[in-house]
This record gives sequence, C-alpha cells and structure tokens, in this order.
Amino acid sequence: MKALVLSGGAGTRLRPFTHNSPKQLVPVAGKPVLLHALEAIAAAGITDVGIIVGDSGKAIAEAVGNASYLGISVEYIVQSEPRGLAHCVLIARDFLDADDFVMYLGDNIFVGGIGSAAAEFRRTRPAAHLVVTKVANPSQYGIAELDGAGRVTRLQEKPAHPNSDLAVTGAYFFTPEIHEAVRSIEPSGRGELEITDAVQFLIERRRTVTAQLFTGHWADTGTLGDLLECNRVLLEAIAPATHGLVDHRSQISGPVIVEAGAVVRRSTITGPAIIGAGSVIEDSRVGPFTSIGRGCQLRAADVEYSILLDDASVFDVSALAGSIIGKGGQVRRAHKDAAAHRLLIGDDSHVEVSA
Ligand code: G1P
Repeated sequence: MKALVLSGGAGTRLRPFTHNSPKQLVPVAGKPVLLHALEAIAAAGITDVGIIVGDSGKAIAEAVGNASYLGISVEYIVQSEPRGLAHCVLIARDFLDADDFVMYLGDNIFVGGIGSAAAEFRRTRPAAHLVVTKVANPSQYGIAELDGAGRVTRLQEKPAHPNSDLAVTGAYFFTPEIHEAVRSIEPSGRGELEITDAVQFLIERRRTVTAQLFTGHWADTGTLGDLLECNRVLLEAIAPATHGLVDHRSQISGPVIVEAGAVVRRSTITGPAIIGAGSVIEDSRVGPFTSIGRGCQLRAADVEYSILLDDASVFDVSALAGSIIGKGGQVRRAHKDAAAHRLLIGDDSHVEVSA
C-alpha cells in the first residue's frame, strides 16, 4: 500500500502563519503538522509516499528533508492549482500505479495514528474505507451515513441539513477502483473535484464502501484554536527528556522536553511542555501545554497553553495564554512611561489585550 499526502492548499484560515509558509508546516508539539502525518503513515507500515505540493513545494521539501530517517521514501507531485482532493488522485495516477493507497490530508492529525484503520482496510479490501468521527458541527465536513453493518450508504459534502454527525476525516483508503471514479465526476459548486463525490460514485455503483469510527482525538488543524487544542493533546503524550541545561534554581514538573542547547535559568516549567533547541528561558514560568520553538528567548515571561514558533521572544510579560507567536515575533512590556499599547503586527494577525 502507498500513501498520497496532500500538502497543497492556501491555508487562508491560518493567516498570518500561512502568508509565507504552508499550513502543513505550522508546528504543533514541536514539529510541523506534516511530520506528524508522515510519522503516522510510517507507523502504519507504509513506506512509499507521494506528497502533492502546490506553490510552497520547496518549503515542504526542505522541512521533510530526507525522510529515510522515518523509513519511508518520498516523491513530490506538483499540483499547479488547487482543483480539489479528487484532482490530486487524478494527477498522482503514475505514482499510484495499480496499488492500494491511503490518501491522507497533510493538515490532519490523528492522535494514536491510523494503524488500526490501515489494518482493517488491508484485511477486508473494500473499494474505499473511510475513517469517520463524531462532530458537533456536521455542516462543515463531508458527512457519512452508515447502515448497521458499517457500510456507507451515502456521502454528502458539507450538507446544510445533515442526516448524520459522522464526519469524514482526512484518511481515505482506496483500491485502484477510485481511479475510474475520479475520472468520471464533474467539478462541484466550489469548482473543485471533490473526493466525496468520487466515493459517492462508488457507492452508487454498488461498490463496497466502509467506514470505521475513530474515537481518539482528531483535528483538521484548520484554525488557530484547533492548533492549540491539538498541541495540548499531543503534548500530553510526550516522553520527558532533558538534553539542554536546567540550572539548580529552576523547577521542572510534569512531562517536559528540554531540547539540546536550550538553557533554563531561575524558571519554573510545568509540563506538558517542550523547550526547543537553543532557546533561553530566564526568570520565567512556562506551561502547561506550551511548545516553545527553537532559538526563542523568554525573560520574566509567564506563558501557558501557547505555541511559540522559532526565534520568537517574550520579555517582561506575564499572563500570556492561548497564544500563538509567529517566527521571530516579539512580545515585550512597554517602557514604564508608555501610556498606550504599541503594536507592529503583520497582515491578518489577531491581538486581544486584557487591559
Ligand atoms: C475536506 C473534505 C471533507 C472532509 C475534510 C476533513 O474538506 O472535503 O469531506 O470532512 O476535508 O478535514 P476541506 O477541508 O477541503 O473543506
């Protein structure tokens, strides 16, 4: 079985982080969302991976690097414009050849992985096997209707009046029967070739389409809130390790990773938390549920339930929570005589001040 990982798309809902970097490279729990995806694929025993990339292909390839450390080989397939998920299958025809594959949306995270879904698909080999999960807002997803035996009877993309609360997540297992389906469908109202329509095509031709409920934490990291929540859940599973330097006046409790070259002085780190390589934390309180990127600087800072991207800094600011600070972003207390907040924020940023 191969994997086709979708890593194109504009990521407009994740601005400003996606102005200069693709959404799949936003980090959660210390690494880009896309690397969590590749790890899940490798853990499911899949070694042949094609990644669909758009304009940001170069950045994606740099971040993935030589994926052999994951035990997988990666090939890039360029999609010149985002024309839908089923279009990705269409243009990956040569790579996919006559093999079964999992199509995996590169901005999805399945905590606990996709191993059991892969095993079920390998065992039963239906034309399509979907991974579904219960959601509170079914109108925002592809929605599956199931019979009592776990067979999918109908799929609808973002229905206004959903008949089920089972959302189709971003892991779809297919036999080569999907190729005829993606060739046969027409673009949807939003002008895209929808994978939902291709699977519905299979259902209408009485091919077996099954679904399996994913009960763990699943996130389509489409919004900033999703990222923070996903960061929280993934951090809960980290194995604590201290590779950097923690002085004797600092306190560490709960699962905390201090990466190589990081320095923690006179600070309290409450896990789960990650302090990225080369970051310097002084006179600060960090965590819980906080990922500090590489090369960050915190001085007299109090940060919890937050993500700091590489090279960000926080000086003299207490009670920072629920925040994501972009690469090289700086947050600092104003000069003591300053009468106002002073902001230099990029396009589409979002700031809430509490006083
Ligand atoms: C896509 C699919 C949708 C699925 C969702 C899962 O939606 O079209 O059926 O439920 O991914 O992440 P999109 O994120 O492209 O709107």
